[in-house]
Amino acid sequence: MHLTCNQEIVGSNPTGGLFLDGVNVMNIILIGPQGSGKGVLGRHLNSKYGFSPISSGDVLRQEMDKGTKLGKKIADIINKGNLFPDELTLELIDKKIRNARSGFILDGFPRNLNQAKLLESYLEKLDKKIDLVLLVDVPESVSLFRLAGRWQCKNFGEIYNTKTIPPKIHGICDKCGKALYQREDETEDAIKERLKIYHEKTEPLIKYYKEKGLLKVIDGSGTPKEVLKHAVDVIESLK
Ligand code: AP5
Ligand code: MG
Repeated sequence: MHLTCNQEIVGSNPTGGLFLDGVNVMNIILIGPQGSGKGVLGRHLNSKYGFSPISSGDVLRQEMDKGTKLGKKIADIINKGNLFPDELTLELIDKKIRNARSGFILDGFPRNLNQAKLLESYLEKLDKKIDLVLLVDVPESVSLFRLAGRWQCKNFGEIYNTKTIPPKIHGICDKCGKALYQREDETEDAIKERLKIYHEKTEPLIKYYKEKGLLKVIDGSGTPKEVLKHAVDVIESLK
């Protein structure tokens, strides 16, 4: 498999390839149901390899928090668990993709076939490509269990869980000491809608990327450390 390299920040290695801290720079898509741990895995891969995690959900929520007209439109849609329009979502993450000089990890985009095709032609124009699509596989029972206990930090984006990854002090971020919050799309109805959309619109991407030879499946039901190890094993196998 050809790995995407960024010549602005990497140097030539003795075998003629390009590397960053000994690791080829990669552009990765994470696919998985709600609560499968894409956000947590993206952050851990960032710590290990420096790939920039780009969560379309986080970008939309940041816009929502600004309280702009666009933010209000986003809130109306995503708090009910529905999808924001495809082109507008890509426009919102565009800058982050352009700025990701050491590879990126797309978490939450694409989430339907139209977005996958939009992304492809968009990346082509930037002379970038996707090297790997990781499906983080968990049973629905795990998704629901994890979503019930999720608390996040707006400051650093840390993602905690009252049952599985608790902060040292309840409701407070370990890193910045600020109060944690729960997402507004964490209601029973919105979660049901998000999972329905995942099965109907996002799951077809599994076949799409499998046919392109880009898909690898990892078990997402273990501890964060175990899940990271599965992802690292796949990444290392592509070097
Ligand atoms: P988004 O923010 O992407 O949410 P989602 O798809 O619903 O996925 P989640 O963030 O719920 O799950 P995750 O897999 O990231 O789990 P996490 O790591 O947090 O999107 C939100 C909304 O924005 C969408 O519904 C849509 O409206 C809109 N949107 C976004 N992208 C869009 C797009 N492309 N087009 C249109 N609209 C779009 O983990 C979950 C919990 O489990 C946490 O508490 C965590 O601490 C815990 N946990 C994680 N891993 C482990 C582990 N290994 N062991 C134990 N606990 C774990
Ligand atoms: Mg997430």
